[in-house]
Amino acid sequence: MYIVFEGIDGAGKSTQIQLLKEWLEANGFRVETLVEPTDSKVGNLIREILQHPDATTDRVQKTLGLLFAADRMFIMDKLEDESKIFISDRSFISSLAYQEPAEWIEVLNKYAKKPDLLLLLDLDVKKSVARASGEDTFENEEFLTKVKDNYLRIVENYTHEIIDANNGVNKVSSDIKKAVAPYLGLCPDCIR
Ligand code: TYD
Repeated sequence: MYIVFEGIDGAGKSTQIQLLKEWLEANGFRVETLVEPTDSKVGNLIREILQHPDATTDRVQKTLGLLFAADRMFIMDKLEDESKIFISDRSFISSLAYQEPAEWIEVLNKYAKKPDLLLLLDLDVKKSVARASGEDTFENEEFLTKVKDNYLRIVENYTHEIIDANNGVNKVSSDIKKAVAPYLGLCPDCIR
């Protein structure tokens, strides 16, 4: 099973992935977590480019689309292992939400694995900007408003659950567990 977390920056994905992992392991599942961009050389190059002031320009966005697509190929083989649940911090769906144009991004990601379950951590843009590290050029209100709208449209094409990420960590975590439970034969009403 391939579970993907998506959402605008600052939605708390990494914290929530860790909490979900611990809970699934306590329920007897083998779990491996993944992060995109990866720690490959391509991933490092991406992180460098994300700090350039021109990262949102058309030219750089097209380049980033290519790099993100190449970077995710480093983890594709792993996902074939059916004995584990993979939980990924982002996927090609981030590319669809952040990069343009859509037709180009779709072609580049033709071979990227589709999630079995997509969890969108939906956060107010103003909160996202307030929580941002300030390092990345994407962390501005206008750009993230567009990304958030893209997400809400794109998720409709996949098996998905939308989680309100404006709440506190514990409430968000229990909402995620309740959303995931039915997909794994666990009891949603047994979660506090
Ligand atoms: P991430 O590491 O999640 O951000 P943070 O710095 O908050 O930990 O991701 C880095 C940025 O890369 C984030 O702004 C989203 C962006 N991104 C894309 O634009 N396209 C993609 O395909 C992916 C995977 C990420």
